[in-house]
Amino acid sequence: MSIDQTSQPVKPLRIAVLVSGSGSNLQVLIDAMQAGALPIEIVGVISNRDDAYAVTRAKDAGIEVAVLSHVESGKRMGIKTFEKHATAQLEAWQPDLVVLAGFMRVLSADFIDNAPAPMINLHPSLLPAYKGLDTHTRVLCSGEREHGCSIHVVTAELDAGQVLSQAVLPIRHTDTPDSLQKRVQVLEHQLLPWTILQIAIGGVSLTPSEQASSILPALPLRLLIDA
Ligand code: GAR
Repeated sequence: MSIDQTSQPVKPLRIAVLVSGSGSNLQVLIDAMQAGALPIEIVGVISNRDDAYAVTRAKDAGIEVAVLSHVESGKRMGIKTFEKHATAQLEAWQPDLVVLAGFMRVLSADFIDNAPAPMINLHPSLLPAYKGLDTHTRVLCSGEREHGCSIHVVTAELDAGQVLSQAVLPIRHTDTPDSLQKRVQVLEHQLLPWTILQIAIGGVSLTPSEQASSILPALPLRLLIDA
């Protein structure tokens, strides 16, 4: 059983994870859950790709998976259809939190506003800088000295919700987009479980009014990791 900072047992946070790719971040959560290191229960995984390795990872861990493939019989599934099925699935699982971990479809305001639980997203840049795609290449082209990743609350505007936490690294003169991607992933694998732990134990609030009126530290929380 997990214990919070006041030695009270922590009720596991029911989380649903949305994925599109390799699922290395999902794996970190699975490993932490199985080791009892994180007070979570992964109640289900939704993938918009049937070839995502994340699907294999979830199935291997005995987690329920819904594949809502974005391509079916050669046709792209419209976002509205995807969202209709995803909403039904989430309502069935009743998560406390929805985690977008490498989920690469843009969701509509309607879906986000009516989701049965708050949603957070892992993004590979120090938001608000470098929203969107190809962040590692753009960061290098701009001659930045620092890079990293952020976890933010999902809102209708892309990558623009309240940033909850960030992990930062110094860019090396030898870095390439590929090396940066690998170094940032090392950060992600620590930032994501740590941030979810903070949410589970009440160290960070997803509600702006609670955050403002509490003794919690100002957001975003920042981790400095040597990667
Ligand atoms: C992660 O690096 C994450 O930051 C990125 O996708 C990768 C997924 O890796 N997310 C985005 O770019 C969202 N805009 P994973 O499938 O191995 O966890």
